Amino acid sequence: MPGYVLAIDQGTTSSRAIIFDRSGSIVSSGQKEHRQILPKAGWVEHDAVEIWDNVREVVGTALSRASLTRHDIAAVGLTNQRETTVVWSRSTGQPVGNAIVWQDVRTQAICDELSAGVGPDRFKEATGLPLTPYFAGTKLRWILDNVPGAREQAEAGELLFGTMDSWVVWNLTGGTDGGRHVTDVTNASRTLLMDLRTLEWSPEILAAFDIPAGMLPVIRSSSETYGTVHGSQLLREVPIAGILGDQQAAAFGQAAFGPGDAKNTYGTGCFVLVNTGDRIVSSANGLLATVAYRLGEQAPSYALEGSIAVAGSLVHWLRDNLGIVSSAAEAEELAGSVPDSGGAYFVPAFSGLFAPYWRPDARGALVGLTRFVTKAHIARAALEATAFQTREVLDAVNADSEVPLKELRVDGGMVANDALMQFQADILGVPVVRPRIAETTALGAAYAAGLAVGFWTGQEELAANWAEGRRWEPALPGPERDRRMRLWKKAVARTFDWVD
Ligand code: G3P
Repeated sequence: MPGYVLAIDQGTTSSRAIIFDRSGSIVSSGQKEHRQILPKAGWVEHDAVEIWDNVREVVGTALSRASLTRHDIAAVGLTNQRETTVVWSRSTGQPVGNAIVWQDVRTQAICDELSAGVGPDRFKEATGLPLTPYFAGTKLRWILDNVPGAREQAEAGELLFGTMDSWVVWNLTGGTDGGRHVTDVTNASRTLLMDLRTLEWSPEILAAFDIPAGMLPVIRSSSETYGTVHGSQLLREVPIAGILGDQQAAAFGQAAFGPGDAKNTYGTGCFVLVNTGDRIVSSANGLLATVAYRLGEQAPSYALEGSIAVAGSLVHWLRDNLGIVSSAAEAEELAGSVPDSGGAYFVPAFSGLFAPYWRPDARGALVGLTRFVTKAHIARAALEATAFQTREVLDAVNADSEVPLKELRVDGGMVANDALMQFQADILGVPVVRPRIAETTALGAAYAAGLAVGFWTGQEELAANWAEGRRWEPALPGPERDRRMRLWKKAVARTFDWVD
């Protein structure tokens, strides 16, 4: 058996390839950012061909940095930004347009039409999701309605739909030369088109959305061999054996295998997942029900999810749109130069507000401003926004379950920020724990692939790899914590009902 597993992490801002050894340690990696295409307010697109080129490049970078070849790689695992939607031609491999990114809110009118008279929870029992622009099915419907000729071509069997996992696997396995058109249960659970109970596309929902079933990928488990890499590529003949949406992958990489196990990933957005075992829990508090993972023929594990649309991307916005910092590191330094936000609260409702509010009509607000407030306070308020949003989602988790969370396992890029993690523990009132390997998203995909080919023996071995790296204890007195939460909620209320 070769000694390594390679994970591809196709994320919102970049694509990465990371090679892991048997202990789950990183051996090497490659990373490349892709363009964020913002044609108008509320629209966010990616060029799927650029992403595929980047994926190939970063795989080459990771292999050459470690002086490894395909013979050293036991399997490839894939994880991806979820919901981002691409439609492409089966015969040419060319997308019919840019991919519509999960943050894009152009499909609000489609959601309104489908909710008319019944409300946004029309498909919640079957899918676990409210009807909002976040989910892939609404984006697919938009493409069919708006790209000239798309519906006719789709009905003729010429077009394929996929989230980014399907796009990358189809290309890895040969594209127009026999590419496999598949997705996994976790990605499918984010389309609004899959029934959580049967793990199949729902014929009723497809009819309501007017989507031809023939353009959808086959839904497979998260851990099995889907195919091998095509002969024209660096990793030729290596099995592709794991697919997990990135948030589910992070939970898997955190070894969140049992009911009640939870994690929060601080990436472009911020996503709390709590494993609910074999139970599909319908949230009364604004959380989503979703699939956590399914290993081969085993029964699926489900999760409750609290999705926050804007976290790390707010720091990018400070850099790219306001220009008040030149890098994320500078934002961190600036935020760390003041003890608090000087009374400023920043609610980044750029894509409306996700959990627990689900208010597509909300738009961002920066409130509490006085002449005292400097750019350092604004940078601090931007970081604090992530912690306040996480607290609101955890309040919803605690309201939905009988047992409150005693600590929060964290991962993702922003957890390197010590001041943010301390503030997070302060605002939550429970400890925050970072594992030794904080690259849990890629690790989770590697684990899923490695399990399928026998590289790892079972989940017990993976759980034994988990080790605590660092812990932050809450230090803020309770009354002050409550005061800040009160102000945060007031700030949130100011963002509602902004879209006329
Ligand atoms: O649901 C969107 C999510 O999968 C994006 O994750 O890590 O790119 O912020 P990330």
